[in-house]
Amino acid sequence: MSLTRLISLGAFLMASASFMGLAQADGDKKMTPLSPQYKQECASCHTPYPPGMMPANSWKRLMGGLSKHYGTDASLDAKDLQDISGWLQAHAGTYKRVSEEPPQDRITLTAWFTRKHNSREVAPEVWKRASVGSASNCVACHANAAQGNFNERDIRIPR
Ligand code: HEC
Ligand code: HEC
Repeated sequence: MSLTRLISLGAFLMASASFMGLAQADGDKKMTPLSPQYKQECASCHTPYPPGMMPANSWKRLMGGLSKHYGTDASLDAKDLQDISGWLQAHAGTYKRVSEEPPQDRITLTAWFTRKHNSREVAPEVWKRASVGSASNCVACHANAAQGNFNERDIRIPR
């Protein structure tokens, strides 16, 4: 392997490792596996967002207002509410880039999200495509988002 290839491989590995820290948010090696209860209750309308992508306070607030959830009613019974709320807070992001509480408790309004999805990576008109619908629709571009995989290699921008 040539020296330049080695260097670019090194840079790639470093970037991936630092990003895994963000996605995972706790510096563990792998993404937190999603609890079946979370997938059941929180993935019927959208991608099951990884808990490590927002801090505990944001999840807590969000779970306290499910009857008015971004214009819809996502209420749960008391047991599911308690379990899922506890699970989200236990696996919330603590990594420094995720420590900020984003406006409206939206992952899509965090500074890191905006940076990673700048206009060079995603042209402004792409967000408006019917096949995308909204930035919150991760799975439109991240084919394996439901498995917690946001790897660059698995991104397909829909037409
Ligand atoms: C009845 C449908 C429905 C259910 C069930 C639901 N949501 Fe949502 N959720 C929405 C809608 C609609 C939005 C706004 C999406 C948009 O702006 O395009 C949203 C947005 C979100 C966002 C913000 C996404 C962003 O823009 O960063 C989070 C976080 C979220 N939901 C978490 C949850 C959690 C946790 C649960 C389970 C307790 C849940 N949702 C269950 C409909 C639902
Ligand atoms: C319109 C398509 C699109 C949507 C929708 C989208 N992304 Fe992305 N995402 C991208 C592109 C393009 C990149 C940049 C990849 C790169 O850096 O080369 C990216 C990068 C990322 C990365 C960094 C990956 C890495 O390895 O550096 C993460 C994490 C991520 N997105 C999470 C999300 C989440 C969470 C959502 C939903 C709340 C979402 N994305 C919605 C297109 C999208």
